[in-house]
Amino acid sequence: MSTAAIPFTDLARSRHSVRKFLPEPVAPAEIRGVLEDAQAAPSNCNTQPWTVHVVSGAARDALSKELLQADEEERLSPDFTFDYADFGQGTYLDRAHHHAATLYGAMGIARSDRAARKAAARENLDFFGAPHVAFLFMPAFGDGVRAAGDIGMYAQNFLLSLTARGLGGIAQTMLGFYADTVREFLNVPADLKLLFGISFGVADESAPANGFRMERAALEQSVVLHDTPGVLGQR
Ligand SMILES: Cc1cc2nc3c(=O)[nH]c(=O)nc-3n(C[C@H](O)[C@H](O)[C@H](O)COP(=O)(O)O)c2cc1C
Repeated sequence: MSTAAIPFTDLARSRHSVRKFLPEPVAPAEIRGVLEDAQAAPSNCNTQPWTVHVVSGAARDALSKELLQADEEERLSPDFTFDYADFGQGTYLDRAHHHAATLYGAMGIARSDRAARKAAARENLDFFGAPHVAFLFMPAFGDGVRAAGDIGMYAQNFLLSLTARGLGGIAQTMLGFYADTVREFLNVPADLKLLFGISFGVADESAPANGFRMERAALEQSVVLHDTPGVLGQR
């Protein structure tokens, strides 16, 4: 395994979302290693509430076709809401807008070019060309928030494991917009909810969509220290 050589700080800071993949498949032993790393994630009361479906090959191609068709016919069936309006006005919405501007800017797509933006968004449903996609399902415990947090822990282990192995991935809420289509195709019971998917494989480093890195807010914008001097400036 190639993981030991990469210091964790480099691993965490070099991971980024990949939006164009090469078609070559990942070796089965590497996929197993990623799944074992992800399985080590912590969870509330060790419930490990994730059920993960990995889709490759002909099944991957057929599912992509179904998703693109569902999108064409506007057959959206999300298990969880997603609305830019929920970001309110200010910081979160500003960051989301900045992200969209950066992504489309890197791809040479003008803000006014709605057709090109739609086409770029639909690339999500072809898994950005990735040979593999993992769908992360969870049970509907209570309001779902705690299980969703556990799925997030799992997903981050998954993504960092990919990075450590010289592979790339991207979490995709957009795949969850078509939960019924995915469930039907994979024969998943209705009581398992689809939070998001992760497309993964080898990054196409030459693609414009992979040619930028999203910056992060300064620590001062996210962290408040109490009796913890010397961490941020003089506070
Ligand atoms: C749970 C989750 C869902 C996401 N869904 C999508 C998505 O549907 N499509 C997409 O292009 N990016 C998606 N992203 C990627 C984010 O845009 C990305 O993580 C963010 O802009 C920071 O960039 P970085 O991952 O390259 O550091 C998602 C990220 C997360 C964590």
